[in-house]
Amino acid sequence: MNVFSKITGTGSYLPPRRVTNQDLTIQLAADGIETSDEWILSRSGISARHFAEADVSASDMAVIAAQRAIEQAGLEKNQIDLIIVATSTPDHLGGFPSTACIVQKKLAMNNCAAFDVQAVCSGFIYAVSIADAMIKAGTHKNVLVIGAEVFSRILDFKDRGTCVLFGDGAGAVVMSASKQPGVLATKLHADGHYSHILSVPGKAANGAVQGSAFVQMDGPAVFKVAVSVLEKVAVEVLESANMTAADLDWLIPHQANIRIMQSTAKKLHIPAEKVVVTVDQHGNTSAASIPLALDCAVRDGRIKAGQTILIEGVGGGFTWGAALIRM
Ligand code: UT7
Repeated sequence: MNVFSKITGTGSYLPPRRVTNQDLTIQLAADGIETSDEWILSRSGISARHFAEADVSASDMAVIAAQRAIEQAGLEKNQIDLIIVATSTPDHLGGFPSTACIVQKKLAMNNCAAFDVQAVCSGFIYAVSIADAMIKAGTHKNVLVIGAEVFSRILDFKDRGTCVLFGDGAGAVVMSASKQPGVLATKLHADGHYSHILSVPGKAANGAVQGSAFVQMDGPAVFKVAVSVLEKVAVEVLESANMTAADLDWLIPHQANIRIMQSTAKKLHIPAEKVVVTVDQHGNTSAASIPLALDCAVRDGRIKAGQTILIEGVGGGFTWGAALIRM
């Protein structure tokens, strides 16, 4: 009999410190950096974001999101046999030990595999795709897939073109082996030729960082690529499941910019009411944005069992991808 992977639980966590555009405008003005609620809202759709305190790491937020997802799945934590964390802001420089291993330790779990995935804002899509393949291969039964970011750590608050756009948070899902189809299709892509338009260029050398340790982005160039690939990959993943956008109950795109999301939905002829939007309240939380939005819509009752959702993301690398899922 065929084995499928199905999402059996979702969870998320936002750090309590909510920073509105107005708060940020005042904070930046103190350093002579000019911005406004009007600019941020009209260019990106963002009204507020959450920032973690200095002693909070990606794993701290991941653990809370994970506990909520495991509880909703009705599992005991030691039934989880694999943890995958998608993050660009891992707890440790160099990425090791992996944030997934630290999550495992903080959850007092043992006997399961754990690793990180680095695909920036597409990281959660990559992680879901890997979990799906491993469950279908029969090697793992209950996989915890987490997107967790403390992007505020890599924001240059002197660069108004980036610092107003991102936020911190974590989202998680439990994916379990199932006789019923859950993940219907996935598609992943990358093109390293675009690596220069969105990056953290610094390198570790001789015990120090050489170059900038902050996010740098050519916003308009990223915008152009994002709009183009998000439509293409959505069509691709729908076609591979012999479906069309009309079959979707919900679209959950990466939450970077409302204008990118609206443009993608319009090209796919998906009405705005079917698009889950959290960018207004969360900002861009990179790998956490999709599972955060998914958990919000599950917990407020919009997304129901049996519905079909399309999640898709794009980010640094460049990487992009999509997954078509029956809830
Ligand atoms: O998660 C990965 C994916 N990331 C994305 O998808 C982000 C994609 N890009 C974007 O969302 C948009 O390009 C931005 C929101 C980053 C920028 O919007 P834009 O409409 O492309 O604006 P722009 O970068 O072309 O900047 C327009 C103007 C510039 O001034 P001049 O040169 O026209 O005088 C900027 O200096 O806006 C200025 N500007 C700001 N003004 C006030 C840039 N940042 C700010 C700011 N406040 N925070």
